[in-house]
Amino acid sequence: MNRIDTLLAAMTLEEKIGQLTMATAGYAITGPVLGGDVTDGIKAGTIGSLLNVWGAEASRTIQALAVENSRLKVPLFFGFDVVHGHRTVFPIPLAEAAAFDPVLWEETARASAEEAAADGLHMTFAPMIDIARDPRWGRIAEGPGEDPWVGARMAEAKVRGFQGADLADITRVCATAKHFCGYGAAIAGRDYASAEISLQTLHEVYLPPFVAAVKAGVAAVMPAFHDIGGLPLTAHIPLLRDWLRGEMGFEGVLVSDYNAIAELIKHGVAGTLAEAAALALNAGVDIDMMATAYSRGLPEALERGLTDMAHIDASVRRVLVLKERLGLFDDPYARCAPRVEGDRARRLLARKAASRSVVLLSNPAKILPLPSRLHRLAVVGPLAEARADMRGPWSAAGLPDDPVSVVEGLRDLLPADSIAFAPGIDLLGKDLSGEEAALDLCRAADAVVLCLGEAATMSGEANCRADPGLPGQQRAFAEKVFDLGVPVIVVLFSGRPLILPWLIERADAVLAAWFPGCEAGPAIAEVLLGLSDPGGRLPVSWPRHVGQVPLFFGARSGGRPENPEDHYTSKYMDMPNSPQFAFGHGLSYGDFALEALTVGPDEVSADGVIDVAVSLINKGGRPGLGCVFLFIHDPVASVARPLLELKGVLRAEVEAGGRCELRWSLPVADLAFLGADLRPRIEAGEIEIAVGRSADPEGLLRRSVRIVTPRHQG
Ligand code: GLC
Repeated sequence: MNRIDTLLAAMTLEEKIGQLTMATAGYAITGPVLGGDVTDGIKAGTIGSLLNVWGAEASRTIQALAVENSRLKVPLFFGFDVVHGHRTVFPIPLAEAAAFDPVLWEETARASAEEAAADGLHMTFAPMIDIARDPRWGRIAEGPGEDPWVGARMAEAKVRGFQGADLADITRVCATAKHFCGYGAAIAGRDYASAEISLQTLHEVYLPPFVAAVKAGVAAVMPAFHDIGGLPLTAHIPLLRDWLRGEMGFEGVLVSDYNAIAELIKHGVAGTLAEAAALALNAGVDIDMMATAYSRGLPEALERGLTDMAHIDASVRRVLVLKERLGLFDDPYARCAPRVEGDRARRLLARKAASRSVVLLSNPAKILPLPSRLHRLAVVGPLAEARADMRGPWSAAGLPDDPVSVVEGLRDLLPADSIAFAPGIDLLGKDLSGEEAALDLCRAADAVVLCLGEAATMSGEANCRADPGLPGQQRAFAEKVFDLGVPVIVVLFSGRPLILPWLIERADAVLAAWFPGCEAGPAIAEVLLGLSDPGGRLPVSWPRHVGQVPLFFGARSGGRPENPEDHYTSKYMDMPNSPQFAFGHGLSYGDFALEALTVGPDEVSADGVIDVAVSLINKGGRPGLGCVFLFIHDPVASVARPLLELKGVLRAEVEAGGRCELRWSLPVADLAFLGADLRPRIEAGEIEIAVGRSADPEGLLRRSVRIVTPRHQG
């Protein structure tokens, strides 16, 4: 018998359930504090993994409790939310999505894994790949934005970066694709709320990132807290067992979300812990994170025949296989020896990621980039000297004082006497005492950098906002600054698009910086001064008003699409349907245009390839980082297709006055969609190819091709 069969045969029921139990270690100032029951549980073999503990020494000490003190000496694994960096904090995922750069996405995950593994971690609860189209939902900050194609590319890049080719590589960690699935469709943008999703939309919008993660070899998947139509994902047999494990062939570990198994009782689908435990186990959830539902409920569930030993053994086997793949049986202490160098390289990577993520939303008079010989620059606002907030939600082991603030970044690049700083007001509007002093600095300045936005704790898990505007008294303060008549550049920090048409109207330039991570200051200063091009493009549509939400470019036409000339069409009486800024919007210091779109051949078979080419021209006087999107639209199909579907993104640096040819070879197979029978199909007929620098319909170049031989697939 192999090692795993031998262990399974030797384990008591308690020890088997122990492998399915993940507990947490509290963190005191001096390091992890293990609750008494956790220490005893590890020694007794009734705990198989821990979360929220890191540090080489800590993990060595705790690992010894298992491998030197428990009966069967089965090693633990340690998990943590290394979502956008571990000690070096990178931009939040929504910001990184704005870079539209899979190479960068993989690099930052690779760097995060190096630091996490050196801290004794084996698993990260990332990437978070929930598609989100509602800025009220706080967790939009943690994911890839509104588009499934982007979500899929980010999912595969992050899995590659975290896991590498071999989980036994002690500089890598296993990834967890989360939160499976449709979590971002929570009703009213409230976290944990039910979602109502058609099967078509589930398969075409919310599942593709998980398909990509599984195909990339993700080691674990985490079901989401919520329910779809009353069926909680933690107990969702059709999606977990039949689709994920059955159709997709996922053989990895399913780890529940925090206490989610016990919460099946609150969902109203289980009356007792035993029933909740049986529902989750029967759906294929292997590890119970922090609910102790398996340890307290499975013995009774077995007695009552609600589940059986075959389910338990199958889950234990998957957990032991993961531990074996991590190399834990060969050397349980391999990741407990800090050996990582390269902090400087990772900080420079964080700076590059931040400047690639910053989106220049508006710059109508081209006030940016600022001239380097500025006489006096006033830097004001509640986030101008913020450091801790630059980390955003899920800052992992990143220290609060580690980030460089905007004012520090500017001071490093400009003569100290040219910068005057004052916060003016606090973020929540409780202390306005500094307002006059800040306004005085602005009056005397050539230009103002006004740093506004959210605290890092205003997005992320459970941090939803019904009215996602500027918190506190920031609007009143900003309007006083605007009233001075001095040029004002607004830098916005947020975990979501903020609703502020009034600000867009009055500011001379607006940068969406999201939460840019530990190198916020240098990256933003370099963009403000033109030392780097603002590389970000919006990964989400930016609404004019929260009443437009959910708002996304991939909507279907409907039978009465918006027509301002026709009353009886789909529109609002009080504002346009269009976003403030479209998906993909973002200005460069180059002055880009597209021309000469060619698409061929005119007729193509279902197994053919469509060749697309376009010229990207920089008519401006400065180099720029261009970004071009390839969309399709199927105008007539057996199921109405979205107005635009994203099928590719290309980026290119183009010199001032230069041009470059961008090409795609688009397999017709990529145009397959789900028919009414939910089976993939390619139908004969016209397909529109649309290329643009955003999803704004006004800016798209369009050509058509015809698919001549239909094919049912799958
Ligand atoms: C949280 C989050 C999940 C995270 C887990 C462990 O509740 O929903 O994303 O990985 O618990 O911290």
